[in-house]
Amino acid sequence: MNRRSFFVNAAGLSAAHAAFAQDGNTLAVGMIGVGNRGSGLLQEVMQQPEARVLQICDLKPERLDKAATAAAKFNPKTTSDWRKVLDDKSIEAVYIATPPHLHVEMAVAALKAGKHVYCEKPIGTTPEGIKELLKVARATRKVFQAGQQLRSYAQLSEAIRLIHEGAIGDILFVKAQRHASADLDHNGPSSDWYFNKAKSGGYLVEQSVHNLDACNWVIGQHPTRAAGFGGVKLYKNSPPGRDIMDHQSITYDYANGVQLSFTQLVFHPRGMPAANQIINVYGSKGAVELMNSAQFYSLDGKEQRMLTPKVDQKNDAHTTAFFKAILTGSKVPADIIVGATGALTAIMGNQVCEQGRVVHWSEYGVDL
Ligand SMILES: NC(=O)c1ccc[n+]([C@@H]2O[C@H](COP(=O)([O-])OP(=O)(O)OC[C@H]3O[C@@H](n4cnc5c(N)ncnc54)[C@H](O)[C@@H]3O)[C@@H](O)[C@H]2O)c1
Repeated sequence: MNRRSFFVNAAGLSAAHAAFAQDGNTLAVGMIGVGNRGSGLLQEVMQQPEARVLQICDLKPERLDKAATAAAKFNPKTTSDWRKVLDDKSIEAVYIATPPHLHVEMAVAALKAGKHVYCEKPIGTTPEGIKELLKVARATRKVFQAGQQLRSYAQLSEAIRLIHEGAIGDILFVKAQRHASADLDHNGPSSDWYFNKAKSGGYLVEQSVHNLDACNWVIGQHPTRAAGFGGVKLYKNSPPGRDIMDHQSITYDYANGVQLSFTQLVFHPRGMPAANQIINVYGSKGAVELMNSAQFYSLDGKEQRMLTPKVDQKNDAHTTAFFKAILTGSKVPADIIVGATGALTAIMGNQVCEQGRVVHWSEYGVDL
């Protein structure tokens, strides 16, 4: 069965198919922001047999040239003005991989211009922006996907499904972290926005949004309140003007009685155990480590096994799911609700550290 007939069969050639894609066979794409992530997304798009890349946008000429060369077989137009991509009526879907503070404005304009949108995470950096995007995305029939690609990881999805079926008993507690051994490169290509909280949202919002989303996913809901502390210890005013934290420790409380203890920091030495990213989900029958292994440990210590085997998967699964949703009307794994919930959870974590108080989800006045 070829890929196209798989899509058609999977959807039963639904009416949604005709409604979502202009000719039903190809998808005309525009890329906005082709830096580190955007150039990777361009590769994912190029791997889709239905893709046609019509326009590429970036402010940096060298990145634009590199991306245009990578997509040369489509002879795409290039521009530094992202609104020109939206003005092109033949473009059906746009990828947005610019710095986080630009996502809401670009995604809202893209949806209003009638485009399907793949928007990198975090989908927004403020509760107000997220609420605006949520309103517009809900009002349109266009496909919106957040770049939270963990939602397309087959092993993680299956492990979470099994946990929801009771594989570890009742979920009691989650301990998760995102620890790095160093700060982001102070002279790297993203240093012009990364260390400015208004532009990136800081580590918690820009990076840990992935991890916090996976925690919400396994717990089965968003937190209702949070408390915590954080600050800058090792990288004070480095690089100069920095206003993002280098460590944070937050506890989230959920309506179902589960708590999540989350830490993020950028001074975990290489080689020291318990490094990088971990999500330990503790249940009444035992615990499972979700981020790396899906390894289950029974509470009595007598049993250790993979909850579900590792799945060899192509790196473009999230983009494939986005294309499939547009071409067949299927659901995307990381829709606007997933994007908004993940981003708000991370923002909540920043707010508790900055304000030194318990922050309640109800303060956001958002229905998710
Ligand atoms: N899903 C993931 O795993 C993942 C991984 C890395 C980055 N990201 C996300 O992707 C986004 C971009 O991160 P990055 O690492 O690629 O950053 P980057 O700095 O490498 O790239 C951003 C690009 O956007 C361009 N840009 C900035 N303003 C623009 C504008 N007004 N119009 C057009 N282009 C503009 C810049 O010139 C740059 O080339 C961020 O939101 C980040 O969180 C996601």
